[in-house]
Amino acid sequence: MSDSQSITILGSTGSVGQSTLAVIEANPQYRVFALTAHSNTQLLLEQCVHYQPDYAVLSSGEGASELAEQLRQAECRTELLTGADALEEVARAEEVDIVMAAIVGAAGLASSLAAVQAGKKVLLANKEALVMSGELFMAAAQHSKATIIPIDSEHNAIFQCLPESRTGVAQDQLRQVEKIVLTGSGGPFLNTPTQHLASVTPEQACRHPKWSMGRKISVDSATMMNKGLEYIEACFLFSVAPGRVEVLIHPQSIVHSMVHYVDGSVLAQMANPDMRVPIAHGLAWPSRIGSGVNFLDLAAEGPLEFTHPDMDRFPCLALGMAAASAGGGAPIALNAANEVAVQAFLDGRLEFIRIADLIGEVVEKIPCEAPSSLAIIQDCDLRARILAKELIIKQFH
Ligand SMILES: NC(=O)c1ccc[n+]([C@@H]2O[C@H](COP(=O)([O-])OP(=O)(O)OC[C@H]3O[C@@H](n4cnc5c(N)ncnc54)[C@H](OP(=O)(O)O)[C@@H]3O)[C@@H](O)[C@H]2O)c1
Repeated sequence: MSDSQSITILGSTGSVGQSTLAVIEANPQYRVFALTAHSNTQLLLEQCVHYQPDYAVLSSGEGASELAEQLRQAECRTELLTGADALEEVARAEEVDIVMAAIVGAAGLASSLAAVQAGKKVLLANKEALVMSGELFMAAAQHSKATIIPIDSEHNAIFQCLPESRTGVAQDQLRQVEKIVLTGSGGPFLNTPTQHLASVTPEQACRHPKWSMGRKISVDSATMMNKGLEYIEACFLFSVAPGRVEVLIHPQSIVHSMVHYVDGSVLAQMANPDMRVPIAHGLAWPSRIGSGVNFLDLAAEGPLEFTHPDMDRFPCLALGMAAASAGGGAPIALNAANEVAVQAFLDGRLEFIRIADLIGEVVEKIPCEAPSSLAIIQDCDLRARILAKELIIKQFH
Protein backbone atom coordinates (compact mmCIF):
# COMPACT_ATOMS: atom_id res chain seq x y z
CA MET A 1 0.00 0.00 0.00
CA SER A 2 1.30 3.48 -0.89
CA ASP A 3 1.73 6.06 1.91
CA SER A 4 1.02 8.86 -0.57
CA GLN A 5 -2.07 10.98 0.15
CA SER A 6 -3.97 13.03 -2.42
CA ILE A 7 -4.99 16.56 -1.62
CA THR A 8 -7.34 19.14 -3.08
CA ILE A 9 -6.46 22.73 -2.16
CA LEU A 10 -9.51 24.99 -2.42
CA GLY A 11 -8.09 28.51 -2.76
CA SER A 12 -4.55 27.48 -3.69
CA THR A 13 -3.65 30.98 -4.94
CA GLY A 14 -4.40 32.61 -1.57
CA SER A 15 -2.16 33.12 1.42
CA VAL A 16 -3.13 29.85 3.17
CA GLY A 17 -3.18 27.99 -0.16
CA GLN A 18 0.38 29.07 -0.96
CA SER A 19 1.58 28.16 2.55
CA THR A 20 -0.01 24.72 2.10
CA LEU A 21 1.90 24.20 -1.15
CA ALA A 22 5.11 25.28 0.62
CA VAL A 23 4.61 22.55 3.25
CA ILE A 24 3.77 19.97 0.57
CA GLU A 25 6.89 20.95 -1.38
CA ALA A 26 8.99 19.77 1.56
CA ASN A 27 6.88 16.64 2.16
CA PRO A 28 6.57 14.65 -1.08
CA GLN A 29 4.25 12.04 0.46
CA TYR A 30 1.40 14.47 -0.38
CA ARG A 31 0.25 14.44 -4.00
CA VAL A 32 -1.72 17.39 -5.37
CA PHE A 33 -4.99 16.21 -6.92
CA ALA A 34 -6.64 19.60 -7.57
CA LEU A 35 -5.90 23.30 -7.18
CA THR A 36 -8.46 26.11 -7.37
CA ALA A 37 -8.47 29.87 -7.91
CA HIS A 38 -11.20 32.40 -8.51
CA SER A 39 -9.52 34.81 -10.91
CA ASN A 40 -5.74 34.66 -10.49
CA THR A 41 -5.03 32.75 -13.71
CA GLN A 42 -1.32 33.58 -13.76
CA LEU A 43 -0.57 32.03 -10.38
CA LEU A 44 -2.88 29.07 -11.04
CA LEU A 45 -0.97 28.41 -14.28
CA GLU A 46 2.39 28.52 -12.46
CA GLN A 47 1.09 26.19 -9.73
CA CYS A 48 -0.28 23.70 -12.30
CA VAL A 49 2.98 23.61 -14.24
CA HIS A 50 4.94 23.04 -11.04
CA TYR A 51 2.65 20.54 -9.22
CA GLN A 52 0.95 18.87 -12.21
CA PRO A 53 -2.40 18.28 -10.46
CA ASP A 54 -5.10 16.17 -12.16
CA TYR A 55 -7.51 19.11 -12.09
CA ALA A 56 -7.49 22.89 -11.77
CA VAL A 57 -10.64 24.91 -11.18
CA LEU A 58 -11.09 28.54 -12.18
CA SER A 59 -14.32 29.35 -10.36
CA SER A 60 -15.05 32.74 -11.98
CA GLY A 61 -14.54 31.20 -15.43
CA GLU A 62 -13.02 34.48 -16.67
CA GLY A 63 -9.94 33.90 -18.79
CA ALA A 64 -10.51 30.13 -18.86
CA SER A 65 -9.91 29.60 -22.58
CA GLU A 66 -6.60 31.53 -22.45
CA LEU A 67 -5.55 29.53 -19.38
CA ALA A 68 -6.46 26.21 -21.06
CA GLU A 69 -4.33 27.23 -24.05
CA GLN A 70 -1.40 28.20 -21.81
CA LEU A 71 -1.63 24.85 -20.01
CA ARG A 72 -1.53 23.07 -23.38
CA GLN A 73 1.48 25.09 -24.53
CA ALA A 74 3.28 24.26 -21.29
CA GLU A 75 2.54 20.55 -21.91
CA CYS A 76 0.79 20.43 -18.55
CA ARG A 77 -1.38 17.36 -17.98
CA THR A 78 -3.90 19.24 -15.79
CA GLU A 79 -7.54 19.33 -16.89
CA LEU A 80 -9.15 22.75 -16.40
CA LEU A 81 -12.69 22.99 -14.98
CA THR A 82 -14.70 26.17 -14.47
CA GLY A 83 -17.52 27.43 -12.27
CA ALA A 84 -18.48 27.11 -8.61
CA ASP A 85 -19.93 23.59 -9.03
CA ALA A 86 -16.49 22.31 -10.06
CA LEU A 87 -15.17 23.35 -6.62
CA GLU A 88 -17.55 20.87 -5.04
CA GLU A 89 -16.58 18.16 -7.58
CA VAL A 90 -12.87 18.35 -6.74
CA ALA A 91 -13.69 18.54 -3.00
CA ARG A 92 -15.70 15.32 -2.98
CA ALA A 93 -13.80 13.33 -5.66
CA GLU A 94 -13.21 9.72 -4.66
CA GLU A 95 -9.45 9.94 -5.28
CA VAL A 96 -9.06 12.66 -2.64
CA ASP A 97 -7.95 11.94 0.94
CA ILE A 98 -7.44 15.49 2.25
CA VAL A 99 -9.15 18.77 1.41
CA MET A 100 -7.64 22.09 2.43
CA ALA A 101 -10.61 24.51 2.64
CA ALA A 102 -8.87 27.86 2.12
CA ILE A 103 -11.30 29.91 0.04
CA VAL A 104 -12.06 33.24 1.70
CA GLY A 105 -15.57 34.08 2.88
CA ALA A 106 -19.03 32.66 2.19
CA ALA A 107 -17.85 31.67 -1.30
CA GLY A 108 -16.14 28.68 0.34
CA LEU A 109 -19.19 27.30 2.13
CA ALA A 110 -20.60 24.90 -0.49
CA SER A 111 -17.25 23.30 -1.35
CA SER A 112 -16.12 23.02 2.31
CA LEU A 113 -19.45 21.38 3.15
CA ALA A 114 -19.16 19.07 0.13
CA ALA A 115 -15.78 17.85 1.43
CA VAL A 116 -17.27 17.23 4.88
CA GLN A 117 -20.31 15.42 3.46
CA ALA A 118 -17.97 13.20 1.43
CA GLY A 119 -16.22 12.14 4.66
CA LYS A 120 -12.81 13.66 3.83
CA LYS A 121 -10.09 14.76 6.20
CA VAL A 122 -10.89 18.48 6.01
CA LEU A 123 -8.30 21.07 7.00
CA LEU A 124 -10.58 24.00 7.74
CA ALA A 125 -9.15 27.49 7.23
CA ASN A 126 -12.39 28.94 5.79
CA LYS A 127 -13.84 30.02 9.15
CA GLU A 128 -16.73 31.89 7.50
CA ALA A 129 -18.18 28.54 6.33
CA LEU A 130 -18.38 27.32 9.91
CA VAL A 131 -19.68 30.63 11.26
CA MET A 132 -22.53 30.49 8.74
CA SER A 133 -23.46 26.85 9.02
CA GLY A 134 -21.93 25.62 12.31
CA GLU A 135 -24.55 23.12 13.44
CA LEU A 136 -25.22 21.79 9.94
CA PHE A 137 -21.47 21.51 9.26
CA MET A 138 -20.65 19.63 12.46
CA ALA A 139 -23.69 17.34 12.07
CA ALA A 140 -22.61 16.54 8.50
CA ALA A 141 -19.13 15.64 9.77
CA GLN A 142 -20.57 13.37 12.42
CA HIS A 143 -22.80 11.67 9.85
CA SER A 144 -20.08 11.14 7.22
CA LYS A 145 -17.29 10.50 9.76
CA ALA A 146 -15.26 13.33 8.22
CA THR A 147 -12.33 14.54 10.31
CA ILE A 148 -12.27 18.31 10.69
CA ILE A 149 -8.91 19.74 11.69
CA PRO A 150 -8.95 23.48 12.35
CA ILE A 151 -6.22 25.44 10.58
CA ASP A 152 -6.91 28.82 12.15
CA SER A 153 -3.84 28.95 14.42
CA GLU A 154 -5.97 29.57 17.53
CA HIS A 155 -8.33 26.65 16.95
CA ASN A 156 -5.49 24.42 15.87
CA ALA A 157 -3.82 25.29 19.19
CA ILE A 158 -7.00 24.43 21.13
CA PHE A 159 -7.33 21.19 19.15
CA GLN A 160 -3.79 20.28 20.20
CA CYS A 161 -4.49 21.13 23.87
CA LEU A 162 -7.85 19.37 24.26
CA PRO A 163 -8.15 15.83 25.60
CA GLU A 164 -7.72 13.40 22.71
CA SER A 165 -7.32 16.31 20.22
CA ARG A 166 -10.59 16.27 18.34
CA THR A 167 -13.35 18.51 17.06
CA GLY A 168 -16.96 17.90 18.07
CA VAL A 169 -15.63 17.02 21.55
CA ALA A 170 -17.68 14.49 23.49
CA GLN A 171 -19.46 16.08 26.45
CA ASP A 172 -17.81 13.80 29.04
CA GLN A 173 -14.39 15.07 27.93
CA LEU A 174 -15.61 18.65 28.11
CA ARG A 175 -16.40 18.22 31.80
CA GLN A 176 -12.63 18.30 32.39
CA VAL A 177 -12.39 21.68 30.67
CA GLU A 178 -13.03 24.87 32.63
CA LYS A 179 -12.68 27.32 29.75
CA ILE A 180 -11.02 27.96 26.41
CA VAL A 181 -8.92 31.10 25.91
CA LEU A 182 -8.50 32.50 22.41
CA THR A 183 -5.52 34.80 22.05
CA GLY A 184 -5.31 37.63 19.51
CA SER A 185 -2.54 40.06 18.68
CA GLY A 186 -4.85 43.10 18.67
CA GLY A 187 -3.82 43.86 15.08
CA PRO A 188 -2.20 47.02 13.70
CA PHE A 189 -4.39 49.47 15.67
CA LEU A 190 -3.99 48.05 19.17
CA ASN A 191 -2.39 51.27 20.42
CA THR A 192 -3.56 53.79 17.79
CA PRO A 193 -5.31 56.76 19.45
CA THR A 194 -9.03 56.14 18.81
CA GLN A 195 -9.52 59.62 17.29
CA HIS A 196 -7.15 58.55 14.46
CA LEU A 197 -9.15 55.43 13.56
CA ALA A 198 -11.61 57.38 11.40
CA SER A 199 -8.94 58.16 8.84
CA VAL A 200 -7.03 54.87 8.63
CA THR A 201 -6.47 53.54 5.11
CA PRO A 202 -6.82 49.99 3.73
CA GLU A 203 -3.01 49.83 3.39
CA GLN A 204 -2.58 50.64 7.09
CA ALA A 205 -5.30 48.15 8.07
CA CYS A 206 -3.68 45.38 5.99
CA ARG A 207 -0.22 45.94 7.52
CA HIS A 208 -0.49 43.34 10.28
CA PRO A 209 2.36 43.45 12.80
CA LYS A 210 2.74 39.65 13.09
CA TRP A 211 0.97 37.76 10.29
CA SER A 212 1.10 37.95 6.50
CA MET A 213 -2.46 37.22 5.27
CA GLY A 214 -5.06 37.96 2.60
CA ARG A 215 -6.68 41.42 2.61
CA LYS A 216 -10.09 40.41 3.99
CA ILE A 217 -8.75 38.62 7.07
CA SER A 218 -6.20 41.41 7.57
CA VAL A 219 -9.00 43.99 7.87
CA ASP A 220 -10.90 41.55 10.12
CA SER A 221 -7.81 41.42 12.35
CA ALA A 222 -7.63 45.22 12.46
CA THR A 223 -11.28 45.49 13.61
CA MET A 224 -10.94 42.29 15.69
CA MET A 225 -13.99 40.91 13.88
CA ASN A 226 -11.57 38.09 13.12
CA LYS A 227 -11.60 37.22 16.83
CA GLY A 228 -15.39 37.61 16.90
CA LEU A 229 -15.70 35.09 14.04
CA GLU A 230 -13.20 32.83 15.78
CA TYR A 231 -15.25 33.01 18.97
CA ILE A 232 -18.28 31.66 17.08
CA GLU A 233 -16.05 29.12 15.30
CA ALA A 234 -14.70 27.82 18.63
CA CYS A 235 -18.21 27.29 20.04
CA PHE A 236 -19.25 25.19 17.03
CA LEU A 237 -15.99 23.28 16.59
CA PHE A 238 -15.57 22.22 20.19
CA SER A 239 -19.27 22.16 21.25
CA VAL A 240 -18.72 24.70 24.04
CA ALA A 241 -21.19 27.31 25.27
CA PRO A 242 -20.14 30.92 24.53
CA GLY A 243 -19.73 31.67 28.26
CA ARG A 244 -16.82 29.20 28.40
CA VAL A 245 -14.75 30.98 25.75
CA GLU A 246 -12.61 34.00 26.65
CA VAL A 247 -10.45 36.34 24.55
CA LEU A 248 -7.06 37.71 25.63
CA ILE A 249 -4.86 40.18 23.76
CA HIS A 250 -1.36 38.78 23.30
CA PRO A 251 0.61 41.12 21.00
CA GLN A 252 3.57 38.75 20.52
CA SER A 253 1.41 36.02 18.83
CA ILE A 254 3.51 33.22 20.33
CA VAL A 255 0.89 31.54 22.51
CA HIS A 256 -1.79 30.66 19.96
CA SER A 257 -4.50 29.72 22.47
CA MET A 258 -5.02 27.84 25.74
CA VAL A 259 -7.28 25.35 27.48
CA HIS A 260 -7.94 25.71 31.22
CA TYR A 261 -8.73 22.44 33.02
CA VAL A 262 -10.83 22.01 36.17
CA ASP A 263 -7.75 21.12 38.24
CA GLY A 264 -6.17 24.51 37.52
CA SER A 265 -3.81 23.25 34.79
CA VAL A 266 -3.55 25.37 31.65
CA LEU A 267 -2.30 23.84 28.40
CA ALA A 268 -1.09 26.25 25.74
CA GLN A 269 0.37 25.72 22.28
CA MET A 270 3.26 27.95 21.21
CA ALA A 271 5.02 28.49 17.89
CA ASN A 272 6.38 31.27 15.76
CA PRO A 273 3.50 33.05 14.01
CA ASP A 274 3.55 31.26 10.65
CA MET A 275 0.59 29.40 9.12
CA ARG A 276 2.86 26.59 7.94
CA VAL A 277 2.87 25.28 11.55
CA PRO A 278 -0.90 24.56 11.86
CA ILE A 279 -0.99 23.47 8.20
CA ALA A 280 1.79 20.89 8.76
CA HIS A 281 0.05 19.76 11.93
CA GLY A 282 -3.26 19.33 10.11
CA LEU A 283 -1.72 17.49 7.17
CA ALA A 284 0.16 14.96 9.28
CA TRP A 285 -2.24 14.59 12.24
CA PRO A 286 -2.06 12.43 14.29
CA SER A 287 1.61 12.27 13.30
CA ARG A 288 4.04 15.22 12.83
CA ILE A 289 6.07 16.45 9.86
CA GLY A 290 8.50 19.34 9.31
CA SER A 291 6.85 22.68 8.49
CA GLY A 292 9.95 24.61 7.38
CA VAL A 293 9.33 27.18 10.15
CA ASN A 294 12.18 28.22 12.47
CA PHE A 295 12.07 26.71 15.93
CA LEU A 296 10.81 29.03 18.65
CA ASP A 297 13.53 30.73 20.69
CA LEU A 298 11.70 31.88 23.82
CA ALA A 299 14.81 33.43 25.41
CA ALA A 300 15.24 35.68 22.37
CA GLU A 301 11.52 36.51 22.27
CA GLY A 302 11.36 38.71 25.36
CA PRO A 303 8.33 39.15 27.60
CA LEU A 304 5.00 37.61 26.60
CA GLU A 305 2.11 39.93 27.49
CA PHE A 306 -1.59 39.19 28.04
CA THR A 307 -4.37 41.75 28.61
CA HIS A 308 -8.15 41.87 28.37
CA PRO A 309 -9.49 43.40 25.13
CA ASP A 310 -10.88 46.96 25.19
CA MET A 311 -14.42 46.46 23.87
CA ASP A 312 -14.85 50.21 23.15
CA ARG A 313 -11.87 50.10 20.83
CA PHE A 314 -13.00 46.83 19.25
CA PRO A 315 -16.83 46.92 18.90
CA CYS A 316 -16.67 44.21 16.19
CA LEU A 317 -15.36 41.75 18.76
CA ALA A 318 -18.33 42.55 20.99
CA LEU A 319 -20.69 42.04 18.03
CA GLY A 320 -19.15 38.65 17.26
CA MET A 321 -19.45 37.51 20.89
CA ALA A 322 -23.06 38.72 21.03
CA ALA A 323 -23.90 36.82 17.82
CA ALA A 324 -22.41 33.65 19.35
CA SER A 325 -24.71 34.03 22.34
CA ALA A 326 -27.76 34.94 20.23
CA GLY A 327 -27.23 31.93 17.94
CA GLY A 328 -29.79 31.16 15.21
CA GLY A 329 -29.24 33.33 12.15
CA ALA A 330 -27.26 36.07 13.95
CA PRO A 331 -23.81 34.70 12.96
CA ILE A 332 -24.94 34.46 9.32
CA ALA A 333 -26.15 38.08 9.19
CA LEU A 334 -23.01 39.20 11.06
CA ASN A 335 -20.71 37.40 8.62
CA ALA A 336 -22.54 38.64 5.51
CA ALA A 337 -22.62 42.26 6.71
CA ASN A 338 -18.94 42.05 7.63
CA GLU A 339 -17.93 40.75 4.18
CA VAL A 340 -19.84 43.59 2.49
CA ALA A 341 -18.49 46.21 4.92
CA VAL A 342 -14.87 45.06 4.59
CA GLN A 343 -15.07 45.12 0.79
CA ALA A 344 -16.58 48.63 0.93
CA PHE A 345 -13.76 49.76 3.24
CA LEU A 346 -11.12 48.24 0.93
CA ASP A 347 -12.79 50.03 -2.03
CA GLY A 348 -12.79 53.38 -0.19
CA ARG A 349 -16.61 53.49 0.15
CA LEU A 350 -16.85 53.10 3.95
CA GLU A 351 -14.78 54.50 6.82
CA PHE A 352 -13.01 52.01 9.06
CA ILE A 353 -14.93 53.11 12.16
CA ARG A 354 -18.29 52.67 10.41
CA ILE A 355 -17.73 48.93 9.78
CA ALA A 356 -19.06 48.01 13.23
CA ASP A 357 -22.06 50.39 12.98
CA LEU A 358 -23.07 48.82 9.69
CA ILE A 359 -22.79 45.25 10.97
CA GLY A 360 -24.70 46.08 14.15
CA GLU A 361 -27.57 47.57 12.16
CA VAL A 362 -27.79 44.61 9.76
CA VAL A 363 -27.76 42.02 12.57
CA GLU A 364 -30.52 43.94 14.34
CA LYS A 365 -32.72 44.26 11.27
CA ILE A 366 -32.35 40.83 9.65
CA PRO A 367 -34.32 38.18 11.47
CA CYS A 368 -33.33 34.69 10.33
CA GLU A 369 -35.04 31.43 11.14
CA ALA A 370 -32.99 28.58 12.64
CA PRO A 371 -30.30 27.75 10.06
CA SER A 372 -31.31 24.13 9.55
CA SER A 373 -30.67 23.89 5.80
CA LEU A 374 -28.24 25.33 3.28
CA ALA A 375 -31.17 27.09 1.54
CA ILE A 376 -32.16 28.91 4.75
CA ILE A 377 -28.54 29.89 5.39
CA GLN A 378 -28.07 31.21 1.85
CA ASP A 379 -31.34 33.16 2.03
CA CYS A 380 -30.36 34.83 5.32
CA ASP A 381 -26.89 35.57 3.91
CA LEU A 382 -28.41 37.15 0.78
CA ARG A 383 -30.90 39.34 2.68
CA ALA A 384 -28.14 40.58 5.00
CA ARG A 385 -25.90 41.43 2.04
CA ILE A 386 -28.67 43.34 0.26
CA LEU A 387 -29.41 45.41 3.37
CA ALA A 388 -25.70 46.06 4.03
CA LYS A 389 -25.22 47.31 0.46
CA GLU A 390 -28.30 49.55 0.70
CA LEU A 391 -27.06 51.00 3.99
CA ILE A 392 -23.65 51.75 2.48
CA ILE A 393 -25.25 53.60 -0.43
CA LYS A 394 -27.37 55.60 2.03
CA GLN A 395 -24.45 55.75 4.55
CA PHE A 396 -26.98 55.24 7.36
CA HIS A 397 -28.92 58.46 6.65
N1 LIG B 1 -4.13 34.05 5.76
C1 LIG B 1 -4.04 33.53 6.96
O1 LIG B 1 -2.99 33.56 7.58
C2 LIG B 1 -5.24 32.86 7.60
C3 LIG B 1 -5.16 32.42 8.92
C4 LIG B 1 -6.24 31.77 9.48
C5 LIG B 1 -7.41 31.60 8.76
N2 LIG B 1 -7.48 32.06 7.49
C6 LIG B 1 -8.73 31.89 6.75
O2 LIG B 1 -8.43 31.19 5.56
C7 LIG B 1 -9.27 31.63 4.49
C8 LIG B 1 -8.38 32.13 3.35
O3 LIG B 1 -7.64 33.25 3.79
P1 LIG B 1 -6.45 33.85 2.92
O4 LIG B 1 -5.82 34.89 3.75
O5 LIG B 1 -5.62 32.73 2.39
O6 LIG B 1 -7.27 34.53 1.74
P2 LIG B 1 -6.73 35.09 0.34
O7 LIG B 1 -5.26 35.24 0.37
O8 LIG B 1 -7.56 36.27 0.00
O9 LIG B 1 -7.07 33.87 -0.68
C9 LIG B 1 -8.39 33.51 -0.94
C10 LIG B 1 -8.46 32.36 -1.90
O10 LIG B 1 -9.85 32.14 -2.21
C11 LIG B 1 -10.06 32.32 -3.64
N3 LIG B 1 -11.35 32.99 -3.82
C12 LIG B 1 -11.64 34.30 -3.59
N4 LIG B 1 -12.93 34.55 -3.91
C13 LIG B 1 -13.46 33.39 -4.34
C14 LIG B 1 -14.74 33.01 -4.84
N5 LIG B 1 -15.75 33.89 -4.95
N6 LIG B 1 -14.92 31.73 -5.23
C15 LIG B 1 -13.93 30.82 -5.12
N7 LIG B 1 -12.66 31.12 -4.68
C16 LIG B 1 -12.46 32.39 -4.28
C17 LIG B 1 -8.90 33.17 -4.11
O11 LIG B 1 -8.69 33.03 -5.51
P3 LIG B 1 -7.95 34.23 -6.35
O12 LIG B 1 -6.55 34.26 -5.84
O13 LIG B 1 -8.05 33.79 -7.76
O14 LIG B 1 -8.72 35.48 -6.04
C18 LIG B 1 -7.77 32.61 -3.23
O15 LIG B 1 -7.31 31.40 -3.79
C19 LIG B 1 -10.16 32.73 5.09
O16 LIG B 1 -11.37 32.16 5.48
C20 LIG B 1 -9.39 33.19 6.32
O17 LIG B 1 -10.22 33.69 7.34
C21 LIG B 1 -6.44 32.69 6.90
